[in-house]
Amino acid sequence: MQAQSLKAEAPATAATIDENALHELLGKAITDVGATSLATLVLIGDELGLYRGLAAGGAQTSAELARRTRTAERYVREWLNAHAASGYVQYHAATGKYGLSPEQAMMFAQEESPAFVVGGFQIALAAGRAFDRLKQAFVTGEGIGWHEHDHGVFHGCARFFRPGYIGNLVQHWIPSLDGVKQRLEAGIRVADVGCGYGYSTILMAQAFPKSKFTGFDYHRESIDAARVRAIEAGVADRVTFEIGGAKDFAGDNYEFITVFDALHDMGDPAGASRYILSKLAPGGTWMIVEPYAGDRVEENLNPIGRAYYAGSTLMCTPCSLSQEVGLALGAQAGEARVRSIVMGAGFTHFRRAMQSPVNLIFEARK
Ligand SMILES: C[S@@+](CC[C@H](N)C(=O)[O-])C[C@H]1O[C@@H](n2cnc3c(N)ncnc32)[C@H](O)[C@@H]1O
Repeated sequence: MQAQSLKAEAPATAATIDENALHELLGKAITDVGATSLATLVLIGDELGLYRGLAAGGAQTSAELARRTRTAERYVREWLNAHAASGYVQYHAATGKYGLSPEQAMMFAQEESPAFVVGGFQIALAAGRAFDRLKQAFVTGEGIGWHEHDHGVFHGCARFFRPGYIGNLVQHWIPSLDGVKQRLEAGIRVADVGCGYGYSTILMAQAFPKSKFTGFDYHRESIDAARVRAIEAGVADRVTFEIGGAKDFAGDNYEFITVFDALHDMGDPAGASRYILSKLAPGGTWMIVEPYAGDRVEENLNPIGRAYYAGSTLMCTPCSLSQEVGLALGAQAGEARVRSIVMGAGFTHFRRAMQSPVNLIFEARK
């Protein structure tokens, strides 16, 4: 019976194939296969200084870049051609030289630029190292803690989000909140919860020297890294980093609490919201930064949604599932779900203060 029905279906399926659609999809898949292989090459270029060497030396041959970076020419030439085919390096056919446009240099050679993208490749590669664990989790439904990942996930995540904070946090996001910038200028106490490597905390401390900041994260390795970065940035006098979870971090009466790209990673975002409410001073503000997303799946079927749904499957959803409650909001939760959690916790005010192509910025008050 089964064989018969399969036989009957086969010709119908073949007849419905749209050659153009198939070729378009295959072309997209080839692009993605190239991108997947390129991710390893991006990290090699980052760690061996190939991008920085290209940026510093101007147009140069593969031999010149290899000499400048003390690497092997044959490997470097192949790396350059892979990048040129990706559109990430310029190739000048007349001279056989390679170079970076100003935009390519911002994306790959300048760690401090708001367009630096290397962290994205780093986190994607490192997340895949949990392959066996993830495969098992798909079957059992168990969670995987943030701390259980490869080190590249923590470092890559910090480097992936930092450019967005450099370009937006002090200039746009904080001024979009009601009265917060003025209070930070005058000097208030701030908690940054789920701070990771603390780049958001440090940027705020650099901009508002009269305020005092404490970054909290449950993950010891991230807090250790954040402490080193605060010293390097020269703000250790006004920033401290402490191990603390979203439902037990220390201190009281904060006038401003921030959570950057971490609420959806928490097992119990509702419990965290209630705890944050209890830790805010009267009139205090909570800023929640979440990935950009619409409320419905069909609104997120685009390149941003693709990157975040994939990252969420690899890291955010397993992280939440590993914790108490395990709500697993996912990185594409959208405004309606975040609003309902925050208002359900007892906040009386919630609004979308602003948005960027990759982030939603929410303001909540007591
Ligand atoms: C995607 S990372 C974002 C880190 C940082 N805010 C940033 O923007 O770079 C999520 C962070 O949330 C932290 N985290 C997850 N669950 C937590 C919890 N229940 N309490 C405190 N931190 C938590 C993780 O350790 C991780 O550092």
